[in-house]
Amino acid sequence: MGVFLSVLLVLSLYGVGTPSGDGALVLGYYQENCPLLEEIVRHSVERAVYRDPRMAASLLRLHFHDCFVMGCDASVLLDSFDGMVSEKQALPNLNSLRGFEVIDEIKYNLEEACPYTVSCADILAIVARDAVELRGGPRWEVWLGRRDSLKASFDGANKFIPAPNSSLDTLIENFRQQGLDEGDLVALSGSHTMGKARCLSFRQGIYEESTERRHDHFQRYTTFYDILRSICPETGSDDRLAPLDHVTPFEFDNHYFLNILRGRGLLPSDNALINEDHEGVVLRHVWTYAADSESFYRAFANSVMKMGSINVLAESEGEIRRKCRFINT
Ligand code: HEM
Ligand SMILES: *[C@@H]1O[C@H](CO)[C@@H](O)[C@H](O)[C@H]1NC(C)=O
Repeated sequence: MGVFLSVLLVLSLYGVGTPSGDGALVLGYYQENCPLLEEIVRHSVERAVYRDPRMAASLLRLHFHDCFVMGCDASVLLDSFDGMVSEKQALPNLNSLRGFEVIDEIKYNLEEACPYTVSCADILAIVARDAVELRGGPRWEVWLGRRDSLKASFDGANKFIPAPNSSLDTLIENFRQQGLDEGDLVALSGSHTMGKARCLSFRQGIYEESTERRHDHFQRYTTFYDILRSICPETGSDDRLAPLDHVTPFEFDNHYFLNILRGRGLLPSDNALINEDHEGVVLRHVWTYAADSESFYRAFANSVMKMGSINVLAESEGEIRRKCRFINT
């Protein structure tokens, strides 16, 4: 009954149907076999974020980089072994993805509490939810029942994780390949309301005059660009960091959208969202989320659940890994 009521609550709050078209995921999947799951995860995420506030952003990103490569199957967590190259070595991930130790710790605790039961892919989904909520963002119910892959895809990570210098058309196409639309693209890009990026990722946008940038007068906001250029020289210092949302770098709020409307997104792909798209759909979403953080929260919760159900492995596929970095042997 409790589950039923909370389903109704979620449906009415966020106006969504089941996030997984084929019904592979359910609410309360571990209710019988691992009733303390969500408390155990929450405890570790809280500790990790307390130690390092940026970790909330890093943990959310892990779920994204998992789901966009062969679906949400924890392939991103596998280390290299036996000739298989880890996704961690791929360009978008190398020296960039973080939070693996937090996942290891959670999995260790879960193996104590309920061995062989909880998939690493489900852990990533719950962790992402908790990370967002801990930084003041929306809460949503996490649909569970994912299974873990038996392999990783280095090539897939290079191909499907969008590059920070992608054009708007490329971003739209990239998300469409995952079954996500323009609304999802804008809402999920709102994740860049927290966390940091390396100079390597934003250099191109601060030295090249963007031919696509919508309003030329943005170029005159030079203080913002001067600061970024002082952090990120034209060559070298690739690993120096700048906040993705320079106004409230640690809060999950809608400042990201206010920033990009002023031409002050950090990544070229952030600023690309206000470039002209064919029907103005993208820009309309940006305005909506900039004007009303509640509507951003609803859309984000909806889209992140959609993302979390991309190509999940069904009951007989994959396995429940005992350690997230390795397949069971
Ligand atoms: C729309 C296409 C996207 C592009 C091109 C993109 C690109 C990037 C890049 C280049 C970075 C900085 C990496 C570095 O320099 O080390 C980054 C950081 C981040 N991304 Fe995205 N991203 C996109 C969408 C998303 C989505 C959908 C999510 C989550 C659902 C997300 C969550 C994050 C977070 C939270 C960070 C900060 C991580 C940290 O501080 O450790 N991004 N993204
Ligand atoms: C994006 O950056 C990559 C790597 O720096 C480069 O090879 C590529 O040409 C760039 N693409 C665009 C559209 O600028």
